Amino acid sequence: MYKQLEQRGMDEPPVNVSTLAEMKADGEPIACLTAYDASFALLVDRAGADLVLVGDSLGMVIQGHDTTVPVTVEDVIYHTRTVARGLRRAFLVADMPFMSYSSKTQALENAVRLMQEGGAMMVKLEGGSSQISVVQYLAHHDIPVCAHIGLRPQSVHKIGGFKVQGRDAEKARKMVEDAVTLQNAGADLVLLECVPNELGKAVRSAVNVPVIGIGAGPDVDGQILVLYDILGITQGRMPRFVENFMEEADSAGDACLRYVKAVKERTYPAPKHCFS
Ligand code: KIV
Repeated sequence: MYKQLEQRGMDEPPVNVSTLAEMKADGEPIACLTAYDASFALLVDRAGADLVLVGDSLGMVIQGHDTTVPVTVEDVIYHTRTVARGLRRAFLVADMPFMSYSSKTQALENAVRLMQEGGAMMVKLEGGSSQISVVQYLAHHDIPVCAHIGLRPQSVHKIGGFKVQGRDAEKARKMVEDAVTLQNAGADLVLLECVPNELGKAVRSAVNVPVIGIGAGPDVDGQILVLYDILGITQGRMPRFVENFMEEADSAGDACLRYVKAVKERTYPAPKHCFS
């Protein structure tokens, strides 16, 4: 009973939504990584990552698909369950796959499964103002939600490729407006992917909830990267914002430590990782 209270005396109590909000208020960068299994989850947790995402990027880096579209709820539950076993401190977020939240009731049913069967503490879904009613419905049922805006990989076929988003003024304005609306609908976190630095900064100052960036520049509350990218496992052309932390590391655990340190000390992202 009240496990979190009992753990208050621990050196490092588990991260929860309040911890993330406090980190934003204190200006402490939130270091986040993806993970897909228990062994890597343990390394990432020990490296001091504050948040671990079981991303639907698993469709690309684990399953070998070209996009995240084929990933199913069952896939994410399986990987979330295995990651949960490796974590002690980090906050666990699971992705809602493509078309698993196309109505409020479907979203609630699948979010509940990710939490009950997978052990997720928050669910992430992609979309701007079109997802307001889903976010509201989940929040109304006390499901913590992360709203993923900017580049939305599940919409890659509609967008026509993995491209930087919000380059023109009208789209940038709409993205800031979407972030505020999603927050007001009950989102506890915003994930902002692949936008110019200036837009990252604008979204961050428009909302009160933490903004985690991936290719969104340095002026956000935290950073996230795909684990296999920072370990140099992913092959082929990498997005500009990716840094291979394995290059100077002597082990995978050391690479994770270097990544967390770089985020905390704000040496990552550097200008070469950013879109202006
Ligand atoms: O699926 C994923 O890994 C993501 C990234 C943006 C971190 O959503």
